[in-house]
Amino acid sequence: MTSQGGVLDLPLTAQAGPVSLAGRSAALYSYNGLVPGPRLEIRPGEQVRIRFANRLPEVTNLHFHGLHVSPSGNADNVFLEIPPGENQTYEFSLPRDHRSGTYWYHPHVHHLVARQLWAGLAGLLIVRGELDDIPEIRDADEEFLVLKDFGLDANGDLLMPDPTPQIMQGREGGLVLVNGEVNPTFRIPKDGLLRLRFLNASVARYYLLQLEDHPMYLIVTDGGPIAEPFELRELLLAPGERAEVLVRGERSPGQYRLMNLPYRRFNMGMGMMGGGCMMGGMPVSSDQPAVLATLQYKESRRSLPLPARLVPVTPLSEATGERQLVLGHGMMCMEGMEFTINGMTFDPERTDIVVKVGTVEEWEIVNGGGMMMMDFDHPFHLHTNAFQVVSENDQSPRFPAWRDIVNVPMGGSARIRIPFQDFPGRTVYHCHILDHEDLGMMAVIEMRA
Ligand code: C2O
Ligand code: CU
Ligand code: CU
Repeated sequence: MTSQGGVLDLPLTAQAGPVSLAGRSAALYSYNGLVPGPRLEIRPGEQVRIRFANRLPEVTNLHFHGLHVSPSGNADNVFLEIPPGENQTYEFSLPRDHRSGTYWYHPHVHHLVARQLWAGLAGLLIVRGELDDIPEIRDADEEFLVLKDFGLDANGDLLMPDPTPQIMQGREGGLVLVNGEVNPTFRIPKDGLLRLRFLNASVARYYLLQLEDHPMYLIVTDGGPIAEPFELRELLLAPGERAEVLVRGERSPGQYRLMNLPYRRFNMGMGMMGGGCMMGGMPVSSDQPAVLATLQYKESRRSLPLPARLVPVTPLSEATGERQLVLGHGMMCMEGMEFTINGMTFDPERTDIVVKVGTVEEWEIVNGGGMMMMDFDHPFHLHTNAFQVVSENDQSPRFPAWRDIVNVPMGGSARIRIPFQDFPGRTVYHCHILDHEDLGMMAVIEMRA
């Protein structure tokens, strides 16, 4: 779905029912019958009007992840709740200077987020702008890869994770798909350029991507383009993260695999054994390399070089205020697990942070670990305003970039600088392992004019 005459206007229905997935029928939730949902494309300065209908048997809503738009009214307001059978028109306009990139939409009702994404709800939201007008980028082939895992039984019904430990870890499914397909093939032009746009739309699964015999040249992170292509051998995508890379068709024609390599995102100590809190089996997930997709060479009429320059990123040199956020967790065997920020679970009525529009703040986000010898990585996400990472585990990043998610590894920390621009209002920040978010690792920020 692309905008027409400066407006993107469409009906979007969240519904339950059979969807075709990986060549079979699955009982899922979908947008307009599609998993992933329809891809929406807009340009800076345009209007968006989504006539949303909730035909699910439960409450839901929409969030536009990564967009720099108003968090209030009927724009990107995560406090709206649309009851089953009701409709809501979402409307906002994209600022004229909005950065181009790969964004997405998904539900955001507290306690239901993990389950509704697990059931299939998520779609891409593409902003085409300055970057897309660079000649080499414009002429590159383009593919979109929505990475998402599913847990289905033999009848195609959703598997429901055990409360412990799968929900504490964050649920992962054994069926790891790209655009709802098993190992799809993408074509790369010989001597040409292929632009891959990745979204990790999984509830909890991390992807450590590697392309056989080909480096990937990073061009876009969560929050927009970087200044010049950056060569990567591996690309880590935490839940919610996006990245765009260019691949050069510089090898002998043939087939090359896109691999997902093992990544350890949590440790569960033996302290959990016994005492009525028995642990189940470890998840089968990320401990074996797996093939996600295949690149197949095709002929092309001309060769394309990598672009030398992309879009400049001005580093934020100073902050006017500082804060520290500590991500933690606790466990009560009878009541279950709680995940916290600065010791507190989410309360939509409480405002945890008040900032002034027009300021730049520096936040230190500390992975505080927790009880019972358990440790998790936490991908930290902020709505409305993108940020720049100043340091990760005291190391400066290799290049300045705009992001809306930073992974805070086990035992580690990250410092970020956030410009609070236009848009006053209340919104949230949280862990994007959606089970952690639903178990309380989320809080409220108010931006005051
Ligand atoms: Cu994808 Cu609150 O976020
Ligand atoms: Cu978001
Ligand atoms: Cu987390």
